[in-house]
Amino acid sequence: MQKTSADILFDNKQIVPKEFNKVADKYDFATSMSQGYQEDLNRSGQLLQLKGDELVLDVCCGTGKSTLSFLDKITTGKVICIDNSEGMLAVAAQKFSKQIQQGKIEISLQDAMQLDFATNSVDAIFMAYGLRNMPDYEKCIGNLHRILKPGGQLVIHDYSLRDVWYAKPLWAILGYGFIVPFCTIVSGSANIYTYLIKSVLNFLNPSQISILLEKKGFTNVTIHNHPSWRSLFFHSFRAIKK
Ligand SMILES: C[S@@+](CC[C@H](N)C(=O)[O-])C[C@H]1O[C@@H](n2cnc3c(N)ncnc32)[C@H](O)[C@@H]1O
Repeated sequence: MQKTSADILFDNKQIVPKEFNKVADKYDFATSMSQGYQEDLNRSGQLLQLKGDELVLDVCCGTGKSTLSFLDKITTGKVICIDNSEGMLAVAAQKFSKQIQQGKIEISLQDAMQLDFATNSVDAIFMAYGLRNMPDYEKCIGNLHRILKPGGQLVIHDYSLRDVWYAKPLWAILGYGFIVPFCTIVSGSANIYTYLIKSVLNFLNPSQISILLEKKGFTNVTIHNHPSWRSLFFHSFRAIKK
C-alpha cells in the first residue's frame, strides 16, 4: 500500500518541524479556534513552580503560546525558546520582540533530540506538544534529564490518551472527522494535521509516560488531568530530577 504524507512524517519525525514551516503563519489563528488551547497550556505552565530567577527552556516552543503560559513568573531569570522550525520561531520572535531586546527571552533553532546545553545547567524545562514528535521518546527524556540541574523541574504537556477502550475510537472520530478538515481549511495544509491524529493514536498513555520518566531518573512524578472532555485526550506531567 502506498504511504500517505502523514505516514512519511510519522516514519521520519525529524522532518516534522519543516512541515510546521508551512502552517506557521496560520498556527496562532488555528489554535485560537481550539476550545481551551491556551487555558490548558496555562494550567500546565503553572505546574512549573518558579521563583522568577530561573533559566527555563521551552522545548518545541512553536510560536510561543506555551511560553506565554509561564512567562509572567520570570522576573530576573531567562527563557530560551527552542524549536527546529524557522517559520514557527519567526512568529515567536515577532511576538516576543520586546522581551528579546530586554534579554529576558532568547530564540534558538535546535533539534530537541540533540539539545546543546551543558550537563546540570538548566533549572526548568517545559515541553508542550513536543515529546510525541520525538523519534525516540526515551532518548529525548534522557537528554532533558542530563541538562537539568539536580532538583530541576520538567513539565510535559501533550495529547496522551487515557488508557480506556473508547479513547482511541473517539480520538479518531474527532481527529479525522473534525480536526483535519477544519484545520486544513484554516491553514491550507492537511499533512501536519493528519500526522497529528496518527501520532496521538500511537503515542504513550499517561502511565507509560510516568514509568518512562521514572526509568530515566526522575522522581516525584505526578500526572495532571484537564477539564471536561479534554481529560480523555490531554495530560500533563511534572517530574523532578533526582
Ligand atoms: C504542536 S507545536 C507546539 C508549539 C507550542 N509548544 C505550543 O504549545 O503551542 C509542536 C512544535 O514542535 C516542534 N518540533 C517538532 N519536532 C521537533 C524537534 N525534533 N526539535 C525541535 N522542535 C521540534 C515543531 O516545529 C512545532 O513548532
